[in-house]
Amino acid sequence: MSDEPAAHPPVRTFKPRRRSLAPARQAMVDRLAQQWALDETGLVLDLPTVFGRDAGVVVDIGIGLGDTMIDLAVAQPELDVIGIDVHTPGFATSLASIDELGLTNVRLVHGDALVFRDRIAAGSLAGVRIWFPDPWPKIRQRHRRIVRTDVVDRLVGLLRPGGWLHLATDIDDYAQQMQRVCDAHPALHGGVIDRPAWRPVTRYEQRGRDLGHHAVDLHYTRGSGGAAVR
Ligand SMILES: C[S@@+](CC[C@H](N)C(=O)[O-])C[C@H]1O[C@@H](n2cnc3c(N)ncnc32)[C@H](O)[C@@H]1O
Repeated sequence: MSDEPAAHPPVRTFKPRRRSLAPARQAMVDRLAQQWALDETGLVLDLPTVFGRDAGVVVDIGIGLGDTMIDLAVAQPELDVIGIDVHTPGFATSLASIDELGLTNVRLVHGDALVFRDRIAAGSLAGVRIWFPDPWPKIRQRHRRIVRTDVVDRLVGLLRPGGWLHLATDIDDYAQQMQRVCDAHPALHGGVIDRPAWRPVTRYEQRGRDLGHHAVDLHYTRGSGGAAVR
């Protein structure tokens, strides 16, 4: 099975299902989004201006309901985080958490990470997390998996030298695909790691655990030389 995408149009890695919110919740989202959300499209962002400081910035792709991202933002105040999902309830819940907890190191994007990535300058990120991406288990759906050659290639280009890509899945053949794709990238070094104790059990991971699944973590670092940043 090829890890390459179908050519055109761009392949969606999610099932489009933007849901509308109750009016009061929508009003809350509209108010908080002005302060804590970034548009999916627009000019390339100046990250120190966005966060008001020059700290390492991590992009978290596919935050689901956002609880893991929020927990880590509290636990790792030295990092700034951009959490992205197309899922509307997760965006709303995460905005509410940012507000309640007074977090200043999180920004949210309600949209497609593969569109938003154009707003990130090459070589500017400390890391990218993709934890338990949609599995797309059927053979005919595999081209929708987000961890594939073209996407990893673009994401690596956003990492600063020494920046990392941390992946996790509990789907065996997806873990193999992740490893195959990342091992083949000339600028990445790493592989499967023991599950880091600091990584919270995500909602999706817990659902898999309940079914007897076993999670695999993969961690890769972008080398400082050699391969071109693409
Ligand atoms: C299986 S869930 C995992 C959520 C969370 N990481 C966890 O472990 O509980 C994958 C999430 O990725 C989101 N997603 C898939 N493709 C995406 C994309 N291109 N941009 C943003 N979010 C995406 C989906 O909407 C979904 O919420």
